[in-house]
Amino acid sequence: MSFASSTSLRGHSDKWFESDANFHHLYPLYIQALAQRHWTPLRVVQKASKFLAATPGAKILDIGSGPGKFCLGGAYYNPDAFFYGIEQRSDLVRYAFIAKEMVGLNNVTCMYGNLTELDFSQYDHFYFFNSFYENLPGTYKIDDKLTYSRSLYNQYNRYLYTQLERMPAGTRLATYHGAEAEAPHGYHIVGTDIDHLLKFWIKL
Ligand SMILES: C[S@@+](CC[C@H](N)C(=O)[O-])C[C@H]1O[C@@H](n2cnc3c(N)ncnc32)[C@H](O)[C@@H]1O
Repeated sequence: MSFASSTSLRGHSDKWFESDANFHHLYPLYIQALAQRHWTPLRVVQKASKFLAATPGAKILDIGSGPGKFCLGGAYYNPDAFFYGIEQRSDLVRYAFIAKEMVGLNNVTCMYGNLTELDFSQYDHFYFFNSFYENLPGTYKIDDKLTYSRSLYNQYNRYLYTQLERMPAGTRLATYHGAEAEAPHGYHIVGTDIDHLLKFWIKL
């Protein structure tokens, strides 16, 4: 059966989401090569985004969105929710935009900037895949274009902590490969998946 004649409701964009390998073909080779270490696998995207898209119209922010894999997957699996990403590397944001055009999803916005420029109160729920890790010595880097330091690691974590702390009760957070210290007081783990690498939190 061709993609065009598929009975699926999502039409031609389905082929991109059939596997991680298919999805990565949305990107140039150097971004594909980074996928295994740096971009969330689709089965994790599916589980995390389902937890976050708890109510229709929910606005979900991916904190450090890379080339938009979590946002695009989340938008595809949860058409009633809106996915936003903030990313500090302009090339990744550009490829997120191109990928969005190719899959034809409207409920995704990937923004260029540093997360410290963002007021989290504009969003309902959050996804975090250990985005500041690169700043620690001895870790895999996405590229050599940025300055990395432990003080940036601490600064970003402090900002994240403060913003999440200000969010109201009911706020959901999904962390992948994260340390438990990332969630401020008041956030409780309500479930885990993927060998406990994926954690689901709700602020009570
Ligand atoms: C591990 S990747 C995850 C990408 C995406 N969330 C995913 O799951 O596929 C983390 C991303 O966070 C970005 N990042 C790290 N610190 C950031 C900051 N302070 N502001 C914006 N983006 C940041 C990095 O450039 C990188 O693309």
